[in-house]
Amino acid sequence: MRLTLRVWRQAGPDDPGRFAEYEVPDAEPEMSVLELLDALNSRLVDAGEEPVAFDSDCREGICGACGVTVDGRPHGAAENTPSCHQRLNGYTDGDTLRIEPLRATVFPVVRDLMVDRSSLDRVLEAGAHVWIPSGTAPDADATLQDHATAEVALDFAACIGCGACVAACPNGSANLFVGAKLRHLALMPVSSFDRTPRARAMVEASEGEFGPCSLYGECSRVCPAGIPLRAIAGVNRERLRAVFKRR
Ligand code: SF4
Ligand code: FES
Repeated sequence: MRLTLRVWRQAGPDDPGRFAEYEVPDAEPEMSVLELLDALNSRLVDAGEEPVAFDSDCREGICGACGVTVDGRPHGAAENTPSCHQRLNGYTDGDTLRIEPLRATVFPVVRDLMVDRSSLDRVLEAGAHVWIPSGTAPDADATLQDHATAEVALDFAACIGCGACVAACPNGSANLFVGAKLRHLALMPVSSFDRTPRARAMVEASEGEFGPCSLYGECSRVCPAGIPLRAIAGVNRERLRAVFKRR
């Protein structure tokens, strides 16, 4: 099928940017959005033009590198699906797609569809790490963890740090991301040791850069890891707990 792409082109952070229109005459319904960009780029390279810059790595929904906005929605039309798994089967011959970077003040454009998501890294640096005394490895069953709690922690650990939740939020809130990290680490026995200072540091870091949450809910619908809205309640829970605890 022939698709028309309106793609955001921006030479660098100081360039105002603009949409450029391209034709891809040989798109297939089973192609992903990234494969569509690959097809466009091979045509651009063959024509001696600058290819469209975009991030990708695993293309398996694991790394979180690939977020772009498709027709106004972070990652694309399918809910809970990263850009690398968004297929073109909802489009028909002659359709037009608008592809632009993730849109959030905290994610400045680096080039074309690539954005700088280091604001998320700064929240992680504030507290999403674990102090583990080195030495002899403990017995595997020395620290008990019940299966149900471990499953919940692993569900929250599925966050791939893509930033789509921030881009989907009208306030630019990162609470889904922060809540996923806080709850994941609070539920695991080893990382729960630093629970209180972690909550203080991560909440403070996120409030310094990201907007407040007003429970709009779109964050959870675009999240490729399916992080539920109760992660946001987890932010409030960890924050309140940190107010009343010394450690
Ligand atoms: S919570 Fe979901 S949308 Fe937000 S960064 Fe993590 S994986 Fe991406
Ligand atoms: S490229 Fe890794 S999640 Fe999409």
